[in-house]
Amino acid sequence: MSEHNVLNGIVGYQEVWQSKAALEKTGSNFQEIKQDVQKTVERIHPKRLSLKVDRIIEETASTKTFRLVSSTGAVLPPFQAGQYINVFVDINGVATARPYAIASSPAHRHYYDLTIKRAEGGFVSHFALDQLKEEQALTSSGPMGTFHHNPLFHGEDLVFLAGGSGSVPARSMLLDILERNLPYRFHLIYVNSFEHDVIYAKELRALASTQANFTLTEVVTRPTSNSQGHKGRLTTEFLSNLVPSITDKMFYICGPTPFNESCITLLTQLGVKRRRIRVEANGAPKRPDLQQNWPEGVSLNEEVTVTVKGKGSYKTRVGEPLLNSLETHGFSTENACRSGECSLCRVKLVSGTVFNPSEAHLRKSDRKFGWIYSCVAFPTSDIEVLL
Ligand code: FES
Repeated sequence: MSEHNVLNGIVGYQEVWQSKAALEKTGSNFQEIKQDVQKTVERIHPKRLSLKVDRIIEETASTKTFRLVSSTGAVLPPFQAGQYINVFVDINGVATARPYAIASSPAHRHYYDLTIKRAEGGFVSHFALDQLKEEQALTSSGPMGTFHHNPLFHGEDLVFLAGGSGSVPARSMLLDILERNLPYRFHLIYVNSFEHDVIYAKELRALASTQANFTLTEVVTRPTSNSQGHKGRLTTEFLSNLVPSITDKMFYICGPTPFNESCITLLTQLGVKRRRIRVEANGAPKRPDLQQNWPEGVSLNEEVTVTVKGKGSYKTRVGEPLLNSLETHGFSTENACRSGECSLCRVKLVSGTVFNPSEAHLRKSDRKFGWIYSCVAFPTSDIEVLL
């Protein structure tokens, strides 16, 4: 594919190109239209979206899709298939947020579909599944995230390893490829514990049987005698038989953290270069104490005190990510990915110690000046932070 065709495939590229051509025609330059440029940037990358639930679709016993539309009926900002929005909610006085991948195709700008699965011990997912109603208003961030196909570097042979609700961004990528007739091959290897957990089962199977460039491999780790697809876990042998020329493919991985880690290990063992593997982070680790460098003798249930300089203090557990406990106690900080990637939630650690898991992508300067990413930081002693 030529470079021009590749760029044409990027959502929003045509709009930018046309407005540039119009400017050149009238002899304008960007200084003269600074305000307009600012407005355009805000329209394409809005900080907040005012949405409402238009429809709720029951996917499985533990999963629903929420079709969100603009509360004003406007077209929603463009996004890349694979990106997410951060949904802000107030649940019994606790203001918090969660990032959810967009399940729909970027071609449909009047709605975003969010597919939400009930998380074990979850807070926002329980609220969404049990209490969200049609017509209910919601606020979110604009689309964000870097987990998407990059036509300049990722090639045309794509393999997506999804675990559980990790199929959500995969669906958006797949629909994007099919609706725009892109010349990519897309192989979805979809792993679930039980067959009744398979989200979009009918749709995916129908597309796999009609679309030549889409392959679906279902894997069930706890099969019944009627289960379809492969039974058991992913292994290097299974993957190397399933995916020919495996080192030439581009891999996307999205699922629970242990699933993501085991997929990276398997692909690396098969010789796939790390740069050909993209992984969508999935929140703070549930068991940070199993990671390397966890301080010896510290248990997740130990009680610690968090002091917010000049604002107050509260008690929490070592195993509670700092951002969650801050929000529960009425403190807030910007956040988006809640997975240690975007750095929006960073706060300054004034005293005490926290455990920064491997999910925390702290920069050198963050470490040097004592910044921590509160969404994935675990207080391992009494701490004081500056918000
Ligand atoms: S919210 Fe993105 S790093 Fe914490």
